[in-house]
Amino acid sequence: MCGIVGVLGKHEVAPMLVEALKRLEYRGYDSAGIATVNGGKLDRRRAVGKLVNLQDLLVHQPLAGKAGIGHTRWATHGAPTERNAHPHRAGKVSVVHNGIIENFRELRAELAECGLAPETETDTETVAMLVSHYLESGLPPVEAASKALGRLEGAFALAFLFDGEEDLIVAARKGSPLAIGHGSGEMFVGSDAIALAPMTDRITYLEEGDWAVVTRAGAEIFDESGAPVQREEKRVRLDQTQVDKAGYKHFMAKEIAQQPTVLAEALGAYLKGDEIVLPSPGLDFTEVDRLVLVACGTAYYACLTAKYWFEKLARIPVEVDIASEFRYREPPVTKGTVALFVSQSGETADTLAALRYCAGRADRIASVVNVETSTIARESDLALPIHAGVEVGVASTKAFTCQLNVLLLLAIKAAEARGRMAAAEKSELLAQLRALPGLFNAALDRDGAIAEAARKISEARDVLFLGRGMMYPLALEGALKLKEISYIHAEAYASGELKHGPIALIDKSVPVIVMAPRDGLFDKTVSNMQEVMARGGKVCLISDARGIEEAGDGIWQSIPLPDVDERLAPLLYALPAQLLAYHAAIAKGTDVDQPRNLAKSVTVE
Ligand code: F6R
Repeated sequence: MCGIVGVLGKHEVAPMLVEALKRLEYRGYDSAGIATVNGGKLDRRRAVGKLVNLQDLLVHQPLAGKAGIGHTRWATHGAPTERNAHPHRAGKVSVVHNGIIENFRELRAELAECGLAPETETDTETVAMLVSHYLESGLPPVEAASKALGRLEGAFALAFLFDGEEDLIVAARKGSPLAIGHGSGEMFVGSDAIALAPMTDRITYLEEGDWAVVTRAGAEIFDESGAPVQREEKRVRLDQTQVDKAGYKHFMAKEIAQQPTVLAEALGAYLKGDEIVLPSPGLDFTEVDRLVLVACGTAYYACLTAKYWFEKLARIPVEVDIASEFRYREPPVTKGTVALFVSQSGETADTLAALRYCAGRADRIASVVNVETSTIARESDLALPIHAGVEVGVASTKAFTCQLNVLLLLAIKAAEARGRMAAAEKSELLAQLRALPGLFNAALDRDGAIAEAARKISEARDVLFLGRGMMYPLALEGALKLKEISYIHAEAYASGELKHGPIALIDKSVPVIVMAPRDGLFDKTVSNMQEVMARGGKVCLISDARGIEEAGDGIWQSIPLPDVDERLAPLLYALPAQLLAYHAAIAKGTDVDQPRNLAKSVTVE
């Protein structure tokens, strides 16, 4: 979390830094700041809250200079105040940081012995103080920064700017991503290529432990031991970096609406006729005894859904875990295991740590990612892109359906390889999958009915979601979407669990959203629904037209969806779940794209 940027430009850099920060705001928006060096002197501007506050400040108090660094913050250490906002400064150095310095207390104590006291509550200021201390002891800037880097424990992407140095940024990466951008007579650093897209498409990704001395002439890169290393420069595809709302009111609305198109494109990327083509080196499912799927949040719910597919279609035993639990449980990962990590950003700290735990233990490390250049993709034996395009809204929408798509294709491939799915069945299922973008359009056409239901739901304090089978993970996802952007308390249960406790919560003030396509479990869900209604509960049923008809009277709200093959229902039913949350948030007037306390990329644990 937090986004950092640095520019050594030909012109004034403040507008470039602000533009880059706008593109990084998805990483946190508690405060923002920039620092420049101008006429040899460091200066900075910082403002609490969204970037727009910094922009306002810069109108009244402009910041000149052709070299600068910038930061957008998701607070970890210290409240989101101006004092705690980055860039931090000590003596002749300014720094921006993404990550957590775990040994900052020890370093602070050491600096205190030299009479140096911090002014902020942040871990980052300690880094600036340490570099400043080394500068004061006589080391030149690069050596001071490199010596300080050697003392830091934890996770960081850092960029340093120095008093008196208008052609120097020192940048470093350990545990948090960092990209270097190459211009002509200009150089850039940023948390990702998206931030740098308006300035350059020529990107070098630093690897774990790397640090770089960046000047307008280029970047010299060193590994953790200090040895010079070469890292490849790549061209980043600009279509992966477009971040406009395309006329929609919110990124989330745009991203929900894009799903028919991106799903069709994603299918096109994997299907050659009826052959499911995986990127090299592929995966031989005949040799897989067990799959371990690990992720966080929405991506975790995609994994829970995939468990049904892999087990039902391919008969492969699957374990699914939350990355933050998996990484510390030290679970046995035996031979014959393929470990699969699902992550939109490809940078989630817990998922990455879980991946590293499995490396060397599992037979293969595979990942399902949106950002193809991410650390998780790079550290996998096989990285499977979901082809969702840039997702900016903090609440994941199109990435979820595209994750489901790739996981389903994998399950079908596994079923075929293991002799569990005949060619005709596969061909029929793929035909249904190809028709899904059309059904997505039909689901999006229900927007009016969904918005109407959402307005009523938005008046509730608590909401329950119910689902059975593959609809259970979908219910969890629906509840997560609703709570994260509308701040309405929402919980999800497997329908069959209702009478084991949660039914005590039911009364007329608690809407119960039931996600139930007319599948093999439909009648059982209808019985659970009746139990809710018998206790005065208000049911909002999301089903197909016949399902709604068969469910009988007494339903409070119904949202009819097109008929869909039950194996594909999780993809289709994701859309009304997303739209319900979106419209409930609109009704409540919350910040849809940047909900409080959240950030898009969770690069700290
Ligand atoms: C919820 C949401 C999060 C992410 C989670 C994992 O809408 O977006 O729950 O799914 O933080 O992020 P990635 O997929 O980037 O690893």
